[in-house]
Amino acid sequence: MPKNNNIQFAKRMEQLPPYLFGMINKIKMEKRWQGDDVIDLGMGNPIDPAPEAVIEKLCDVVRDHKSHRYPVAAGLKNLRREIALAYQKDYEVELDSESEVICTIGSKEGISHLCLALVGPGDTVLVPTPAFPIHIYAAIIAGSNVIRIPLASEEVFLERIANMCESLYPRPKILILNYPHNPTGILANLDLFREIVALAKKYNFMVIHDFAYAKIIFDDYVAPSFLEVPGAREVGVEFGSFSKTYNMAGWRMGYCVGNREIIQGLAKIKGYYDYGIFSAIQIAGIVALRHCDEEVLQQARIYQQRRDVLCRGLQQMGWPVTKPKAGMFVWVKIPEPYAQIGSMNFAVQMMQHANVAVSPGIGFGEDGEGYLRLALVENENRIRQALRQIKRALPKLTEDIDSSNQANTANNNHLAAACKEKIRCSL
Ligand SMILES: Cc1ncc(COP(=O)(O)O)c(C=O)c1O
Repeated sequence: MPKNNNIQFAKRMEQLPPYLFGMINKIKMEKRWQGDDVIDLGMGNPIDPAPEAVIEKLCDVVRDHKSHRYPVAAGLKNLRREIALAYQKDYEVELDSESEVICTIGSKEGISHLCLALVGPGDTVLVPTPAFPIHIYAAIIAGSNVIRIPLASEEVFLERIANMCESLYPRPKILILNYPHNPTGILANLDLFREIVALAKKYNFMVIHDFAYAKIIFDDYVAPSFLEVPGAREVGVEFGSFSKTYNMAGWRMGYCVGNREIIQGLAKIKGYYDYGIFSAIQIAGIVALRHCDEEVLQQARIYQQRRDVLCRGLQQMGWPVTKPKAGMFVWVKIPEPYAQIGSMNFAVQMMQHANVAVSPGIGFGEDGEGYLRLALVENENRIRQALRQIKRALPKLTEDIDSSNQANTANNNHLAAACKEKIRCSL
């Protein structure tokens, strides 16, 4: 088709690099169309079913046409009350469900719109990296600057935040946190949160904590809520999600809790953009929170077993891997000689030679380069199968490295530079 010169995108679109996961997904879909059985350890898209009681409730309510009207945008009173009750039960945090809880169409939507409400050109957002892409791009789309804070030991990480606050003018306006962390699996404890609250008060920044993996926890580890720390509510909010906890990723339901002024801001901007979550889904969400604790525990056990199978298999292949204590992913350093082709090329080669989809570390920003993220979303047998296929494909990869080393490296460097450039030009 001839190019139509009338179609011109907004300037902000230039800030968005090619979505690397989209590229991997495209190859995966093409292979599947050709009849290949691709084992998908790429996206954190749960394969297990939502709890039966939740599905039944949705089916019941959806028959009532009253549920088809525009929903209560901020979330049904009873759903918000149930979220507040869950915080009381799980973290001993008391929330006023009217002013300190708002429902969102998943946490990704909530974080994006909250950034639009809080920051714009001239503002700066601090994002620990590697990062789940929306933590960076929500801020960039809102027009603000993004400063990466490479994740490190707690002490170094806190020092880096403080240094940034001391050296930047105007000072950073928001710090986005995410624990249990995607993709690295790094955890927070209450001491870290206490220090963050102290820094936020000292330097006057707000905190957004993405708590999407709150309940996917292993080996007796319990993930703390940011709001457990005294003073947290004065500086920030926390996002929760039904996507992973209840295998409801496609249902699009999450929430934001904490600072009432921030929540008011989010409600205001959402009022312009959307009408909230389909009421039938909200009512089913009440059932999830009220009656599905056992299913949540069972799902965490399933992920833990898959984690064990995957980590054992990688270790047997001689890959250095640390078992995560939470989340849906294993974050693994690509060993030599394969690391030299770069994570994107490695992921593409794995798809081509092993029929296994993985996420390249570079997709989480330049600090993710050299790593792969493997999602625990296939069953144990499929994970074992994936490990066998990866093992079988590695010699093929070595041949390719020898024959096209330079081209591969150049290609990956190009992708890495593109990511870096896009973040830089927003600084
Ligand atoms: C850290 C993190 N936050 C948020 C999301 C998206 O959650 P939701 O489905 O609630 O938008 C994901 C999904 O993978 C995630 O990993």
